[in-house]
Amino acid sequence: MQRELEIIERLEKEQQIDLQGLEILITTQDEAAVGELAKRARETAQSIYGNKVYIRGLIEFTNYCKNDCLYCGIRRSNGNAERYRLSEEQILSCCATGYELGFRTFVLQGGEDAYFTDERICTLVAQIKKEYPDCAVTLSFGEKSRESYQAYFDAGADRYLLRHETANEAHYRELHPAEMSLKNRKRCLRDLKEIGYQTGCGFMVGSPYQTVETLYEDLMFIKELQPEMVGIGPFIPQKDTPFGDKEAGTMEMTLRLLSIIRLLHPHVLLPATTALGTIHPKGREKGILAGANVVMPNLSPVDVRDKYRLYDNKICTGDEAAECRYCMQRRMESIGYEVVTDRGDFIA
Ligand code: 5AD
Ligand code: FES
Repeated sequence: MQRELEIIERLEKEQQIDLQGLEILITTQDEAAVGELAKRARETAQSIYGNKVYIRGLIEFTNYCKNDCLYCGIRRSNGNAERYRLSEEQILSCCATGYELGFRTFVLQGGEDAYFTDERICTLVAQIKKEYPDCAVTLSFGEKSRESYQAYFDAGADRYLLRHETANEAHYRELHPAEMSLKNRKRCLRDLKEIGYQTGCGFMVGSPYQTVETLYEDLMFIKELQPEMVGIGPFIPQKDTPFGDKEAGTMEMTLRLLSIIRLLHPHVLLPATTALGTIHPKGREKGILAGANVVMPNLSPVDVRDKYRLYDNKICTGDEAAECRYCMQRRMESIGYEVVTDRGDFIA
């Protein structure tokens, strides 16, 4: 435990870790050390955000995608994916339902779908901001030009989520088709920050070919980018993809990384993701107890929820639109946390 404790203390006091320290923290079998890591991360989150968990309403508005990422169930080559896109009215109606339920952040997430031109996105964002001026709009639909990001921002968008997926060049190429590059992904993230978005990066835990070294690069990338949000969740194979037979990431590893990220970058908005809730029934609760402070219940129309299948066995495909909202509240209360409905901006 002594060895682990020294690494955890350096993380907490100096927000620093080295490769060897990371290796020890993600491989140690010492349960007391793992408990201490989660405890320090949880206390750090509480010292900034209290026992509050922010909720974001997730609207999965299109599963058409021009990309072909090897891990993803909505990749263009997946002929088994049943494609859908929501109309502008459907999206606005999700926001209306969400607002009634107390959501003050709407996350518009989707594949890279050419139907949604900059003009359509800008009209939509402006409409949402006009109807709900007290709400934050978060966008998450992949790589765009700087001009496009600027246009959405000018239309009123507040935040953008774009996971970097891995900060290692060779690893990036193993996860993506040749036409995609880490260089462009990083360009997007820098543009988003410069434009003034609250920006989120992130990666999957246990993705194929991930190593301690690539994870270390992910952490160093986070330190360098200083994102307002970081999204991580376990890799979960989707059977119609080239990675359908690969092993899933684990909850334990995801929890340790959530804690490490919290200590390394204390103010970050850190969700306990749906993927974490998918690999373990109490995954999201455990994520909060390991230092996460955001949850993103599903607000998509119920008839499309099971079509937005990035990975297999995804949860929250219930038949009641409001179900996730109250389910989440109960879950958070069960561990002594309070769901809050303000915008929940980054606290600098
Ligand atoms: N397992 C877990 N997460 C996945 N994502 C895509 N496919 C999978 C999968 N099979 C994640 C990616 C992407 C985010 C929207 O979902 O990290 O950025
Ligand atoms: Fe979606 Fe529980 S949060 S069903």
